[in-house]
This record gives sequence, structure tokens and C-alpha cells, in this order.
Amino acid sequence: MKILVTGGAGYIGSHTCVELLNADYEVVVVDNLYNSSEKSIDRIKEITGKDLTFYEADILDADKMNEIFANEKVDCVIHFAGLKAVGESVAKPLEYYKNNINGTLVLCEAMRNNGCKNIIFSSSATVYGDPAFIPITEQCPKGTPTNPYGWTKHMIEQILTDFHTADPEWNVILLRYFNPIGAHKSGLIGEDPKGIPNNLLPYVAQVAIGKLPCLGVFGDDYDTHDGTGVRDYIHVVDLANGHVKAINKIKENPGVKVYNLGTGNGYSVLDVVKAFSKACGHDVPYQIKPRRPGDIATCYSDATLAKEELGWEAQYGIDEMCEDSWRWQSMNPNGYN
Ligand code: NAD
Ligand code: UFG
Repeated sequence: MKILVTGGAGYIGSHTCVELLNADYEVVVVDNLYNSSEKSIDRIKEITGKDLTFYEADILDADKMNEIFANEKVDCVIHFAGLKAVGESVAKPLEYYKNNINGTLVLCEAMRNNGCKNIIFSSSATVYGDPAFIPITEQCPKGTPTNPYGWTKHMIEQILTDFHTADPEWNVILLRYFNPIGAHKSGLIGEDPKGIPNNLLPYVAQVAIGKLPCLGVFGDDYDTHDGTGVRDYIHVVDLANGHVKAINKIKENPGVKVYNLGTGNGYSVLDVVKAFSKACGHDVPYQIKPRRPGDIATCYSDATLAKEELGWEAQYGIDEMCEDSWRWQSMNPNGYN
């Protein structure tokens, strides 16, 4: 089977390509390298000892996308490509809606033109908004996103569902990720944010290596065990394997399916700081700061459905996530540069 991976040079995409190649799938990557480096493609090949086809292309380029689909005879698409910085999306809504929504429409039109109607989409726990209940099952109603990024996930889920309603030959798997962290055990691929990181783990890692002086902990007065925000961190390799399992499911022509990809465990910011300090062998300095607007207190999954229907569950705990994140950070202090 041939799998086209949009955004395959990025953080989650590169780890997924490794697991797809390990499972003997043929892989075609389309990425415009807006937020990634072609070096990650070389590293995927190095880790797996296998080859893949890479197109440096923008999913908004309809002619190019049609050409790629006509050439490649793709069986299934895993769609990672998109802009993902929550704060930036508030400042640049047009760019976010254009890239994420138009990009998905152009992609799907090229798929339809070429008879490929199987898509696995990178959604997010952000679609639950401030969740109605915890742990969050897939039955939890979608909430109101607090930013354009979250709305693009919310809307794309609806768009893909409508494609299936209009044409039941479409198979759509919506994977709602919780908080992906960690890196491949080799230390060769990992998260490489441009500029100052917005997310907790890359920030902690850069403090640990001395590139940033101190972590700001956003709020210690939440209703959680130590007052700091609680999230369901999931190892990126576990997440990647969830996509391989989703391909097995899509072979059954399942129609539209939604799965949470999380561990089912919640860890606070201070729990993460502690686990990371253990992994890197020294304390990570932090300072309590005011709450960050738009943050919720607690978010973790009920991961039962993915276990029952995909035969998937997370293997790695928080200590390994931090160890692997530290290995990547210390082997590549400047990311891919
Ligand atoms: P990433 O930025 O590392 O990867 C996205 C990739 O898409 C990048 O390589 C970028 O260059 C590429 N891209 C962006 N726009 C493109 C376009 N128009 N054409 C071609 N390529 C394009 O991000 P990631 O963390 O790997 O996230 C992958 C997906 O998972 C995204 O859709 C993201 O919204 C979603 N997601 C991420 C998280 C997270 O915390 N990392 C959580 C939930 C969902
Ligand atoms: N945090 C800090 N200091 C920082 C960064 C984060 O204290 O410098 C805290 C946050 O307040 C939060 C926790 O660490 O309590 C996690 O924050 P992240 O920014 O790492 O992650 P979020 O849960 O806010 O959001 C992430 C992705 C979103 C995605 C969401 C759900 O960034 O894209 O998970 O999947 F939608």
C-alpha cells in the first residue's frame, strides 16, 4: 500500500514515516518545509534503512497536487500539513484559515480527481474546548475553540465528515491527539520549533540545555493536585504507531471514525518539570507566572475506544518521554541546523 503523508517532514509526520516504513508501507511525503527541514527526511531514511519519495510542494498548489496524485497511485493519505501555533493563529487568522482549510480542500479535490478517498486527519483534543467531562471520551461533545487554530480543526472534522455523507466511498479517520512529546530513541529526529517555543516540553528542554534561562509556569492556582495545569502527554512514537493502526482500520472501509490518541494519564506542569530534571540529571529552574489566556485546568483522555477498535495503546510513560526528549535536545542543541 502506498501512503501519502502531508507534512511528513514535520515533528509528528517524520516519526510516523519511520513507523510506516518499518511496517513496510510505501511512503510519499509532500511538505513545503515551512516549519521543517529536509534533513528530517534524510534522518528517516537513516533510521529505517529504507527509501521514500519526497516532494517539496505546497498542498495549496492544485496543479502540483493533481500531478503528484496522478503519478503516485496513492491508497491512503495521512494529513498532517498545517499551521499549528495557537497564539499566532489569533494574530494571523487569515493565514491559518487559508493554509489549513483551503489546503485541506485542495488536497481532497486532488484525491477525488484521482480516485483516492481514504484520509486520516490530525485533529486535536482542542476540539473538546473546556471539556464537558473528564476523562474525555469521543462521546464528549465538541466545545467552542478559543482560537482560529482550534476552529480549523473543528471545521476540517466537519468538512471531511460531510464528504463521507455525500459520497459513502470516503473513509475518514479523525485522530484527536492529546499532547505529543518525546522523540525517536535514536535521537535523530524530534521537535525543532522555530524561535522561542510555545509548548511546555520544548521550552523545558531549552531551559535544561541552557538556551533559555528559566521556565515560566503558567498558573499555580488551578483546581489540580498541585495547582498547575494537567495534560495527557503522549510519546510521539506511540502517536505515530496509532496512525499505522488507523491504516489497518481504514482498510475495512469504516466510513467516519473518531479516536482519541492519548495515554489516559494526566500530569501537571510540575510533574513534567520533575520528570525532566530526572532525565537530564539537574534541576530545571522555573518561576510561577500568571495563567495563560485560553488555557484550561485539566485535559486527559479516555483511550479505551482506540484500544478496542484499533488494537492500539500507548506503551511509554512520562519518564521515557522526557528521557527521549532530552536525548534529542542534547544530541541536537540547535535542532536540524
Ligand atoms: P509541524 O509543524 O512539525 O508539522 C507540520 C508540517 O506541515 C511541517 O513540516 C510544515 O512544513 C508542513 N506544512 C505546513 N503547511 C503546509 C502546506 N501548505 N503545504 C505543505 N506542507 C505544509 O507540526 P506537528 O507538531 O508535526 O503537527 C502535525 C499535525 O498535527 C498538525 O496538523 C497539527 O495541527 C496537529 N497536531 C499537533 C499537536 C502538537 O501538539 N504537536 C497536537 C494536536 C494536533
Ligand atoms: N505551560 C507552561 N509554560 C510554558 C508552556 C506551557 O506552564 O512555557 C503549561 C500550559 O499552561 C499548560 C501545559 O503547560 O498547562 C501544556 O501547554 P502546551 O502549550 O504544551 O500545550 P497545550 O495543552 O496548551 O496545547 C497543546 C497543543 C495544541 C493542542 C493541544 C491539545 O499546543 O495545539 O495541546 O492537543 F491543540
